[in-house]
Amino acid sequence: MSDVAVIGAGYVGITTAACLAHLGHSVVAGDIDSARVDALNRGEIPIHEDGLSELVAEGLESGRLRFVLGASAAVADAEFIFLCVPTPQGDDGSADLSFIDAVVLEIAGSLRSGSVVINKSTVPVGTTRRVQRLLGEAGGSIDEIGVASNPEFLREGTSVRDFLHASRVVVGCDNSATAVRVSELYAGVHAPIVVTDPASAEMIKYASNAFLATKISFMNAIANLCEALDADVSEVALGMGYDTRIGFEFLQPGPGYGGSCFPKDTSALMHAAHAAGAEFPLLQGVIDGNVAQHERMIDKAKRLVGGDLRGVEVAILGLAFKANTDDVRDSPAVYVARRLSEEGATLRAYDPKAAANSVLIDSMTRVDSVTEAAKGASLMVVLTEWDEFRWLNFDEIGEALEKRIVLDTRNILDPVALRRRGWIYEGVGR
Ligand code: UDX
Repeated sequence: MSDVAVIGAGYVGITTAACLAHLGHSVVAGDIDSARVDALNRGEIPIHEDGLSELVAEGLESGRLRFVLGASAAVADAEFIFLCVPTPQGDDGSADLSFIDAVVLEIAGSLRSGSVVINKSTVPVGTTRRVQRLLGEAGGSIDEIGVASNPEFLREGTSVRDFLHASRVVVGCDNSATAVRVSELYAGVHAPIVVTDPASAEMIKYASNAFLATKISFMNAIANLCEALDADVSEVALGMGYDTRIGFEFLQPGPGYGGSCFPKDTSALMHAAHAAGAEFPLLQGVIDGNVAQHERMIDKAKRLVGGDLRGVEVAILGLAFKANTDDVRDSPAVYVARRLSEEGATLRAYDPKAAANSVLIDSMTRVDSVTEAAKGASLMVVLTEWDEFRWLNFDEIGEALEKRIVLDTRNILDPVALRRRGWIYEGVGR
């Protein structure tokens, strides 16, 4: 089994490190945050991810996984070096590669001959070749060091499962012998392996995320049409999904997509298209449609309270960008809450997991239960599809509310049951 270094102990890095250790490799993960490194070595995981703490504990116990401070310390003996550092969105919408560049410059002199530097972070097309060039400029002996792209397709909340039961493993590398070595790291994963050139591998990641975002924006547009034409989008999605070319997944309308990937990656791809002199109006429509979908929720809220949100007390159910994660990055729920506050509403928000994360919104207080959020509110807005919200005690919450009006942006409540109890129900496309 191979010696692996993972640089960056964030969502992707911890999962990659723990899963590769689980597959039998010896893994050293380096991060610049010493408190995080110490915590991880004690088995404390800074993120909420199903099954991850068990795998980290297993790795620490077996001695196949450890965390160290800094990139150089991690790469010393490694044959494979995974770059899992952030590539945030720059001011102009492009991906900011400064973390990648800094790490490459730092490790260039410490790499052993025959090692392979692998981009796992989502990076613009051309970055793997850029890493190769940087390694050379920084004095690395590039004839002896390989580079490859190996994008991740991990969803938050299920990243361990997505890694160990991957739909596919993509390896982009100009050297086929190196590509085979990288592929062999995944021998225990039993997934189809796509070996290709680095640029295509990088594009596979962007195209996949942009396509999924397109599915969502398309379905949101259909949902809006369903409202205008008196159709039910849930029925429409069901009828569409049986066509295997369409499939059932990612047809769920809502307040628009969010999270740390789709908004950033669609915008980076749009930026790359512009830079290449190419038009991509379809993708621009997906992005614009998504923001419009967030805003549409504000229009619905306004209409439900009679046109003016000033002074209206609103119960917010959910802040995470989707269920089963504590992540609020680019969360449509946070967007909608912030806009409601800007429109003059007073908010009491409850989220089962995102509570500890800091979301600071004027006139929003955080509470510990749905009932507390509902107390005295004239509108309840469901923004994240947590299971806990699917099984609400409508009578108890109805008692707490000032007015029984609910905006269900995730279509998870039963409109018939609610209307029977005298509630005003508004969903998306139904
Ligand atoms: C995504 C990709 O799925 C993953 O392959 C990639 O590696 C990283 O980005 P993630 O950000 O964890 O994963 O979230 P995902 O489950 O894909 O959801 C993204 C957003 O789309 C969420 O805001 C979600 O609520 C929304 N969504 C998803 C919908 O609005 N409707 C759907 O049908 C599915």
